[in-house]
Amino acid sequence: MQIHQAALPWFRILLSAIVLLPFAASAKIDFTKEIWPLIEKSCVDCHRAPYEEDGKVKKPKGNLRLDAAWAILQGGEGGKIIVPGDPAKSELLSRTMLPEDDDDFMPPKGTKWTAAQKEIVAKWISEGADFGGWEGNKSGQPVTKTVAPPAQASWIQSHYDGLLKGLSPASEGELGKISAAGGRIAPLAASSPLLAVDFLVTREQATDDKIASIGSVKNQLAHLDISRSAVTDSGLAPLKGMPRLTRLDLHGTKITDAGLKHLADLPNLTYLNLYDTGITDAGAAEIAKLKSLRSVYLWKTKITDQGAQQLQKALPKAQVVWK
Ligand code: HEC
Repeated sequence: MQIHQAALPWFRILLSAIVLLPFAASAKIDFTKEIWPLIEKSCVDCHRAPYEEDGKVKKPKGNLRLDAAWAILQGGEGGKIIVPGDPAKSELLSRTMLPEDDDDFMPPKGTKWTAAQKEIVAKWISEGADFGGWEGNKSGQPVTKTVAPPAQASWIQSHYDGLLKGLSPASEGELGKISAAGGRIAPLAASSPLLAVDFLVTREQATDDKIASIGSVKNQLAHLDISRSAVTDSGLAPLKGMPRLTRLDLHGTKITDAGLKHLADLPNLTYLNLYDTGITDAGAAEIAKLKSLRSVYLWKTKITDQGAQQLQKALPKAQVVWK
């Protein structure tokens, strides 16, 4: 008996080592069992293959499908949404971690992921974002996938590559003017001269004169977010002719149709967010002239269904979202 009592703990330790070691090694997250149910429940309603409803084709939101492995890897209009090994840089997860009143928070409607579920997604990405054998809905998968990158990814890539031509970085002094006015500046990618500027910290204190500071990086400015700022129609004048402005977020501002005339010559504008502004059908006619647009957001504006449909017709390459 004595021998047994002494031996038992050892036996236990040995046993747990044998049992746990292989277990730890294989405790990798299983996409099909642990991740797919979360995406299916919270995301796929809005992010799936185009389908018809009431005679209208519904496209995936943000041009992002989450119903197939190839589509998740391809990403959406903003590019890749997963950086394997780096959950913090993976929009699939980071958008769910934003404050819920942030416009980019996902899901905007429906079942949110719990903290524990986000942990599981983070772990899956850290482990390399392996789909195991899961493929999902293969319809719409580009056939030439291994030969050429998907069309969506390639136009974004060539768009930004094109913007870099002949561009030198902004000087410290130029950047300083924007920070002094309450703006935040970040390069689009490490060591890229292209800049993203926002006034999200100061928001309602960001008046036209403050926002005018962006004139100092006229050539480098690619993304501008002045949503919910105090900008008025005339405050958009400094945007005029900005050669590389690609994304412009004006949602929740007092902008009306009159402000849109300042956007007339933005050759590279692909994204325009006018959600919750005073735009009407007359403004939609101005927007229709911006042929480079790929995404236009017009929920909570005064645009009629007819006005939005006309805009969609005028901009066949764009996704016009108005309801
Ligand atoms: C009610 C509809 C809806 C649901 C549900 C939804 N989304 Fe979205 N999602 C959108 C819309 C609209 C956009 C485009 C606007 C934007 O970029 O914020 C978008 C954009 C995105 C983008 C950016 C795509 C790009 O490349 O620009 C990501 C990533 C994303 N969603 C992830 C998710 C995830 C993850 C879930 C589930 C947790 C989810 N979404 C659920 C509507 C939805």
